[in-house]
Amino acid sequence: MARDFEHKPVLLKQVLSALQPRAGGRYADGTLGGAGHAAAILAASSPSGWLFGCDRDGAAVEAARLRLAEFAGRFEIRRGNFAELSQWVPAGSCDGVLLDLGVSSPQLDRAERGFSFQRDGPLDMRMDDRQAMTAADLVNGAEAEELARIFWELGGEPESRRLARGIVREREQRRFETTGQLAECIERLAPRRGKKTHPATRIFQSLRIAVNDELSSLASGLDGAMRILRPGGRLAVITFHSLEDRAVKEFGRARARDYTFTGGVDVPELRAPRAPEARWVQRKAIRPDPAEELDNPRSRSAQLRVIEKL
Ligand SMILES: C[S@@+](CC[C@H](N)C(=O)[O-])C[C@H]1O[C@@H](n2cnc3c(N)ncnc32)[C@H](O)[C@@H]1O
Repeated sequence: MARDFEHKPVLLKQVLSALQPRAGGRYADGTLGGAGHAAAILAASSPSGWLFGCDRDGAAVEAARLRLAEFAGRFEIRRGNFAELSQWVPAGSCDGVLLDLGVSSPQLDRAERGFSFQRDGPLDMRMDDRQAMTAADLVNGAEAEELARIFWELGGEPESRRLARGIVREREQRRFETTGQLAECIERLAPRRGKKTHPATRIFQSLRIAVNDELSSLASGLDGAMRILRPGGRLAVITFHSLEDRAVKEFGRARARDYTFTGGVDVPELRAPRAPEARWVQRKAIRPDPAEELDNPRSRSAQLRVIEKL
């Protein structure tokens, strides 16, 4: 299974140029996936660069171990959430940290993982199958208001309340067990009417984010990444939707803000002077070039932001 873990790393050139891996450097990849980025970082930091890596997904960790076998003795990999990276990677030790958020192609493409409305499988969506709660538990167990909140806040679904009520009515007849069953129900409740995107797109995205508690992991992961970076080290984050990107942008802005200049104004945040902890390496998000978008359609929504610890 690990041998057919096919995932094309996105924005690879741009990540390497942001992190500038070098011999003797230490790097962390919190989202190993198929280890495309990790392998490139180890290759570029030969012969003595080191990589700490993790992924929540057992299949990804297995695939990454195989992919990185040629760099044996130069990495440590653990299965786990990047929110916990700073619990095992020494503080101030890394020259670069990468978080390539979201899901990998094998997670999306394998029906049995239950991430995709285009492939019928169990309504699962867990990145880490040791976790108890699945998407089916959420869809069958949450109150209508809670489902509506998830659809609206995490998916931006304009018809969140109506769809949530429709789902609750439907589950009174029959428990939702499969991705196909949920996609079909949403299509019935919100017919496509010529629109290109499937009406279940936002709902599936929001359920995935909720099941995996992705936004809290991201907040803790960003804090932890800053702790394990040494001054001058860089954090590169690739996001795939606006909620993640906004969180990264706000994080960078807050860390880059200079709280030492009060200008005589009494603002509570400015009473405890704090120098900026980071700077934007490039303020504008870095996007894939047209050739990459053509070669890898999944890269189309990718945005890379890079900040440097001061
Ligand atoms: C887009 S893929 C990464 C692909 C990888 N950069 C490569 O080159 O193959 C995202 C990966 O991040 C993992 N992931 C997402 N959120 C995570 C988290 N909070 N902690 C650890 N891994 C996470 C997913 O399981 C998935 O394998």
